[in-house]
Amino acid sequence: MANEIRTNDQFIVEGLGGKKILSGRVRVGGAKNAIIKILAAPVLFHDGFAISNVPEIEDVHQMIRLLEELGGQVEKLEPGHYKLKSDELNSFMLASDLSKRLRASVVLTGPLLARFGEVRFPHPGGCVIGKRPIDMFLDGFQRMGAKITEEEGLYVVKAGDGKLKGAEIFFKIQSVTNTETFMMAAVLAEGKTILKNCALEPEIVSLGEFLIKCGAKIKGLGTPTLEIEGGELLSGEGQEYVTVPDRIEAGSFLVLGAIAASDLIVENCRPDHLDALIDILRSAGVDVEVGDTWVRVKNTEPNKKFTSIDIKTHEYPGFPTDLQAPLSIFLTQAEGQSFIFETIFEGRLNYLEALNRLGAKTKILDAHRAIIDGPTALTGHEIESPDLRAGLAYLLAAIIASGQSVVHNVKYIDRGYEQIEKRLQAIGVKIERRAGNKDNLCLS
Ligand code: EPZ
Repeated sequence: MANEIRTNDQFIVEGLGGKKILSGRVRVGGAKNAIIKILAAPVLFHDGFAISNVPEIEDVHQMIRLLEELGGQVEKLEPGHYKLKSDELNSFMLASDLSKRLRASVVLTGPLLARFGEVRFPHPGGCVIGKRPIDMFLDGFQRMGAKITEEEGLYVVKAGDGKLKGAEIFFKIQSVTNTETFMMAAVLAEGKTILKNCALEPEIVSLGEFLIKCGAKIKGLGTPTLEIEGGELLSGEGQEYVTVPDRIEAGSFLVLGAIAASDLIVENCRPDHLDALIDILRSAGVDVEVGDTWVRVKNTEPNKKFTSIDIKTHEYPGFPTDLQAPLSIFLTQAEGQSFIFETIFEGRLNYLEALNRLGAKTKILDAHRAIIDGPTALTGHEIESPDLRAGLAYLLAAIIASGQSVVHNVKYIDRGYEQIEKRLQAIGVKIERRAGNKDNLCLS
């Protein structure tokens, strides 16, 4: 898999100038934050399994490269459909540049340590949304009997006499990737592991349900306490993981519908994963209709004003931090002052400043709090995406602004939203991708 892609592409957007005229249906893809953990799961298997509804996005392609670097085999049957084989896995070294730049690579550490009794990895990367510590990973491995040293900038983690031991671990913070990493590590550890204060995200439940289908003994999925009975390598014979729909992508499109559509249907999604956003949009006065696999937003009175709201990001099922940036664009169009309390990450409000150049009235109060006064008419501008979710927010701002905008660093948007410009064009957005030149991928 080439790691050279056109990474400084730009989006050229002709804004709607506040008119709510988009319409039609937009299909949601498989969840990035589900499938990139499923791509770590083959380490727990002696054979492998198939995966489908896989979004063709950069983070997936990078995780596939990581799995191949470890000796895993990945066969692409067709776009979105792969066969993973793990019988030739032969390495526990996560030393390549890739793992440094892709935060999700950290979930490989648990399975590798559990399978091989050792894992070596650098401090994993991640978006510029905070310091992204890994203290809970290191603490959890030690509780399972591992010893940790550092050599040439890598963490070297070795399981006591070559085998991880089941343990009771309390996560001081509900952490998505910690929950996933230790749920997977415990599948091969000796004895029982009890994980407390687990994150409850649907992607974790989806991973756990698939592992159970393949023989793992996991109890408590969807609750804060998981109980895992360690055993042998799993078998994925005849099994296919169908990627759960991406609730963050679905939510991003619902926000777009609220601020720019006359009638938009977001389909192939899981409305039950979107309760927090739907509740917020409805409380602000948005007309939201919920189906079994679709959600519809309509603006029958285009001049209806939305009311400002206070939002607080929270672990699932609360309002997701990954929708904080996209929703802020909606808040710039709501009447009055909205308050944002970003409780999960300390660096996830910085993107707001650049919105003021387009005419928004945002103010960062501190690392976790900000206010937005609206409604404000936005005008097109050149703007640089700092990360995946803020990049999407800038795209939404460009779509509702009047005049032309150029959104730079499309590589970040491509990490989480497959061919987004094609789906936007299909509902009426005037957006073109301007090809950049070849460059080394720098995933944040
Ligand atoms: C996952 O990141 C997601 N990434 C993030 O999505 C998402 O924003 C986040 O969960 C919260 O929902 C993936 O699943 C690949 P955390 P993760 O561990 O697991 C602190 C996106 O845009 N913490 O739940 O890294 C941490 O600093 C990305 O798709 C420690 O203190 O997040 C944060 O404040 C961005 N020590 C809090 O926990 C640790 O060892 C929650 O982070 C680990 C985390």
